[in-house]
Amino acid sequence: MGKYQLYTTMGVGFESVVAKELQAMGYQTRTENGRVFFEGEQKDIVKTNLWLRTADRVKILLKEFKATDFDTLFNQVYEIDWAELLPIDAKFPVKGRSVRSKLHSEPGIQSIVKKAIVNKMSDQYHRRGFLPENGNEYPLDIHINKDVARISLDTTGDSLFKRGYRIEHGGAPLKENFAAGLLKLTPYDGTHPLIDPMTGSGTLAIEAALIGKNIAPGSWRRFAFDGFDWFDSSIHQELLVEAKSEIKPLEQPIWASDIDQSILEIAKLNANNAGVLQDIYFKQVAVKDFATDLQNGVIIANPPYGKRLKDRESAENLYKQMGASLLKYDSFSQYYLVGDPAFEKFFGKKATKKRKLFNGNLRVDFYQYWAKKNDY
Ligand SMILES: C[S@@+](CC[C@H](N)C(=O)[O-])C[C@H]1O[C@@H](n2cnc3c(N)ncnc32)[C@H](O)[C@@H]1O
Repeated sequence: MGKYQLYTTMGVGFESVVAKELQAMGYQTRTENGRVFFEGEQKDIVKTNLWLRTADRVKILLKEFKATDFDTLFNQVYEIDWAELLPIDAKFPVKGRSVRSKLHSEPGIQSIVKKAIVNKMSDQYHRRGFLPENGNEYPLDIHINKDVARISLDTTGDSLFKRGYRIEHGGAPLKENFAAGLLKLTPYDGTHPLIDPMTGSGTLAIEAALIGKNIAPGSWRRFAFDGFDWFDSSIHQELLVEAKSEIKPLEQPIWASDIDQSILEIAKLNANNAGVLQDIYFKQVAVKDFATDLQNGVIIANPPYGKRLKDRESAENLYKQMGASLLKYDSFSQYYLVGDPAFEKFFGKKATKKRKLFNGNLRVDFYQYWAKKNDY
């Protein structure tokens, strides 16, 4: 089985986190803006889709070339041996993106690439007219950056944040891979307690339990590669069995509380779906009444954003309450994802470190308060 040029995509600011995840799995990596490259075989495609917690997608880089006009783009794409990749009935949506390049019309780029593939497949399969495109999906994308085109096959399908354990509800949950990325920015590894005092639908607590128990985050879903006809389908099953055998008991407690009992019920359903309900201690409690005997761990939360709170005053009050009841737990390192630049003032302490992030399109800060007394 051959080697593939592979890369992962991720949210802005999480490149180093994903690179570390890949390195911990034994891969050599090269990082670019929004992408981390590595090499691997089919087994590595399965492994990374199954185990990467912070990435969005894993893609195969099919070809990289310079293209400043549509003829070159067409010819370069036509040259690829498409029949080796796509069966005659393949559905192959093409996503196009162009940044700072001569070829800038994204719909134009998409349709030229599509046309080149259709023409090549028609020639290779000796078939005229339309291709049926009623089979399995092979998602392709063409990305042109400063006149360098990259054409890739997405092995993931639905983004990796869609773990498959979460039920839909109207709240403001963090994406699962974003929550995992935040946890990876803390020292949390399951060997110390973790507390989320504003847990909402439980994403941070559940992702922490998956990390602490060494549960593969992709355990509940299928991936685009499952539908590729040249992909060895036994590998996925094999690695799932292996992953199950590597699950370990949680060493230290995870606490998840919220003021709202109804959202806690959703959090419990999600935790149950993820197989970690018994590992998380859920409790209805307002942050101002929060108390714990636990020590030496991580407190992490994403309080409601200012604009979601009724007014300025209630945001300021909440941050004050958080400061009054959480700051005294100084054997914990504390991490708060907040979209309000005035957070530190009302919380009552300047952060040890702040990290600028984007939660979707929302510019937010990850305020980090490192513990004085423990080994974190
Ligand atoms: C932005 S949501 C958290 C989302 C969560 N991280 C998730 O992924 O589902 C903020 C949560 O803070 C809770 N909350 C608001 N005021 C609170 C308070 N005074 N004490 C405890 N929780 C509170 C809300 O009920 C809401 O569930």
